[in-house]
Amino acid sequence: MKCLGLLCLLATGLSTLSVGAVKEGLKHKYYHRSCPQAEEIIANMMENFTSADQRVPARIIRMHFHDCFVRGCDGSILLNSTPVNKAEKDAPPNNPSVKGFELIDQIKEVLENKCPGVVSCADILTFATRESVHLSGKFERYQVRGGRKDGKISRESDALLNLPPPSANVQLLVQMFANKGLSLEDLVTLSGGHSIGVSHCSSLLGRHVNFSKTGTHDPTLDFHLAMKLKSECVGVHKAEPTVVVMDRFTPTSLDNKYYKGLLQNKGLFTSDQTLLTNTFTRKQVIANAVQPLAWKKKFVDAMIKMGEIEVLTGQKGEIRKTCDRVN
Ligand code: HEM
Ligand SMILES: *[C@@H]1O[C@H](CO)[C@@H](O)[C@H](O)[C@H]1NC(C)=O
Ligand SMILES: *[C@@H]1O[C@H](CO)[C@@H](O)[C@H](O)[C@H]1NC(C)=O
Repeated sequence: MKCLGLLCLLATGLSTLSVGAVKEGLKHKYYHRSCPQAEEIIANMMENFTSADQRVPARIIRMHFHDCFVRGCDGSILLNSTPVNKAEKDAPPNNPSVKGFELIDQIKEVLENKCPGVVSCADILTFATRESVHLSGKFERYQVRGGRKDGKISRESDALLNLPPPSANVQLLVQMFANKGLSLEDLVTLSGGHSIGVSHCSSLLGRHVNFSKTGTHDPTLDFHLAMKLKSECVGVHKAEPTVVVMDRFTPTSLDNKYYKGLLQNKGLFTSDQTLLTNTFTRKQVIANAVQPLAWKKKFVDAMIKMGEIEVLTGQKGEIRKTCDRVN
């Protein structure tokens, strides 16, 4: 922030206050009285979805990240485009790679039948993410505050401006996370989300075959992995675009193997591998690679923090009746 003395104090004081005031609307067991079974229903449904399809937790975790980074965790990613507005959902960073919207819609339908007009879509996505972390990483079901209201605005342009691209270097990533109140350590901790799930070959931006038009693979990508990706990605023109797993060691288990991979040049994106190029982020990567339990604890704290970015509470926003459109 560019400011002088007292002015600066005032400005930072005020912004801290406003953040504090917004967060005040969130609390643990928020639906304890209004919809006592809400969290258990979400847990049960997520368990069922996941046992039917192991890809579910990764999808939901990424959806939550993309919701929170764009206008805060307000369910804006869940809204459909309208004839006059292209929504976040249809922005290139989300469409077609973010999947699982129908699962959140299904949970909402069940909760609307149980307790109409009570549980926000933003909270459903946040709780469903907690379950996803629990189910894919054998994490404890950590406590999540509820009370988020649903936003009424969803714009493609906001998604493009706020979601980091896979080409991002560490400076850009640190900046984009700082814009959301997340630290350099949070950046490294949360990048561990890439220890589950898949990527479209297109998101590799040619790192495995023709990096920055050099005609060869990115030298910071492991040669054998590059060859493997090249052979797996040949089917790009088929109706269903080819995807590759993010973590070769344990593709469906949320764990610290991602960091071990980075140290072997096995991160899929520039935005992963770049974490080794800065002294501080590199230190964190090494620490996370050797201390799985410490990373787990940091991951939970960082997920909770991410889940409270710029939330709407109290009189702000609404409780949507259907997650894909405003009331
Ligand atoms: C640091 C900046 C980040 C960048 C540039 C980034 C970028 C990407 C990209 C390009 C994909 C592949 C999309 C596709 O082509 O299908 C992806 C997938 C994924 N990302 Fe990130 N990501 C970042 C941070 C995060 C964070 C903070 C989380 C959660 C904690 C996360 C969780 C995931 C998950 C779980 C997947 C797999 C999704 C699936 O299997 O459907 N990412 N990310
Ligand atoms: C989850 O699946 C079980 C077993 O099929 C079923 O009894 C239960 O009702 C399902 N839960 C929900 C919330 O749909
Ligand atoms: C790499 O990309 C550049 C620019 O698109 C292209 O001119 C070149 O032929 C490509 N090289 C290979 C080996 O595909």
